[in-house]
Amino acid sequence: MSQYQIGLVVGSLRRESFNRKLANAVTKLAPGEFSFRSLEIGDLPLYNQDDDDNPAEQVKRLKREISESAAILFVTPEYNRSMPGVLKNALDHASRPYGESAWEGKPAGVIGTSIGAIGTAVAQQHLRNSLAYLDMPAMGQPEVFIHAQEDTFDDEGGLAEDTREFMQGWMDKYVGWVKEHAK
Ligand SMILES: Cc1cc2nc3c(=O)[nH]c(=O)nc-3n(C[C@H](O)[C@H](O)[C@H](O)COP(=O)(O)O)c2cc1C
Repeated sequence: MSQYQIGLVVGSLRRESFNRKLANAVTKLAPGEFSFRSLEIGDLPLYNQDDDDNPAEQVKRLKREISESAAILFVTPEYNRSMPGVLKNALDHASRPYGESAWEGKPAGVIGTSIGAIGTAVAQQHLRNSLAYLDMPAMGQPEVFIHAQEDTFDDEGGLAEDTREFMQGWMDKYVGWVKEHAK
């Protein structure tokens, strides 16, 4: 039975997103006591501080789902050497009003894949800056910078053998990280 519900935040809205595929493949490597819920960020309005006192329903839903999560797993592409705007928008929404952040204290995993050679390294570093400010303990190692190539995923969206083995090691460590840090 699942004891730990993990909120899954994917930083790409693209239909054939490699990061969505990575998220789907990686969540299958978790033990039965972990379950994953995809947190929708594509329908959020653009963040506007004027709306802090009267947030949209989608924002309330996101904050509620984060609160119900034991931990968060971010899976993000890199856009122009940073995180995509949709992901930053979601971080900002759920962090406000000041003093009422839903992110605070949630343990985080950060992984990603891109077609660029450094596989989202810079985007992840920018994301980690925000997570530090949001007071989210983020697992540092192993880092996961996956260079998406033709053979990274098979036709069913499964991971190539070597990547799957590497991600299994990552997942085993993440499970321990969540158990240690989840409140
Ligand atoms: C606006 C934009 C900016 C991008 N900038 C980068 C970049 O800085 N580094 C990189 O490795 N790839 C970059 N890419 C290519 C992405 O890695 C590629 O589109 C990838 O498939 C996006 O992830 P997804 O498949 O999950 O949507 C960029 C793509 C877009 C659309």
